[in-house]
Amino acid sequence: MFSAVLTGNPIDVESAKGAASRIADSIAEDGLCGWLETVRRHHEGTYQHCLLVTGIAVDFGLSLGLAKADIERLYSAAMFHDIGKAKIPPAVLDKPGRLDARERALIETHPAAGYDVLKGNAAICPEILDAVRHHHEYLDGSGYPDALCAANISDLVRILTISDIFAALIERRSYKPTMPREQAYEIIRNMEGKLERPLVAAFRGVALNR
Ligand SMILES: [Fe+2]
Ligand SMILES: [Fe+2]
Repeated sequence: MFSAVLTGNPIDVESAKGAASRIADSIAEDGLCGWLETVRRHHEGTYQHCLLVTGIAVDFGLSLGLAKADIERLYSAAMFHDIGKAKIPPAVLDKPGRLDARERALIETHPAAGYDVLKGNAAICPEILDAVRHHHEYLDGSGYPDALCAANISDLVRILTISDIFAALIERRSYKPTMPREQAYEIIRNMEGKLERPLVAAFRGVALNR
């Protein structure tokens, strides 16, 4: 999927959706812990991150009692959410420590880049496209790329954003130790005004227990 974006070849949407659907099956059977172990054996970086976000989002969706169609939209959106990072040099994506202003601006192009890559694709529904573009938006309008505020951020996006932040915090990287799940949840809980409070409360069980 990522190399197709780089080489300008068509993206095999159906097999990516099939893969996401198998993640959903694995979560339903073995739970999130089993899936975390599986993901951690995979290649590092954005690919691993997308698999992790997909697993967390599915588990969150299941715990919220979402309908099957919503779970399917959620796992597809999670699988594709960072596809725009295929356009960003690995040296920037993997840079340990602080990014400078230019690097940060480059990273922040990835939601719109992902949207542009997927928008002509008939297999990608508008809800997924919206989630890819807006997974870094915050309820208080401080996010990017469109500085949306609460009224324009869908439930799907709100669920995906929480899952994405949690995944990024607990990931293993060569330059940072794994953050304990409790500590990662505390950070999310303290993101006052940016994330939907009842959803953050509902996420507690996924973050700590599931
Ligand atoms: Fe992202
Ligand atoms: Fe992400």
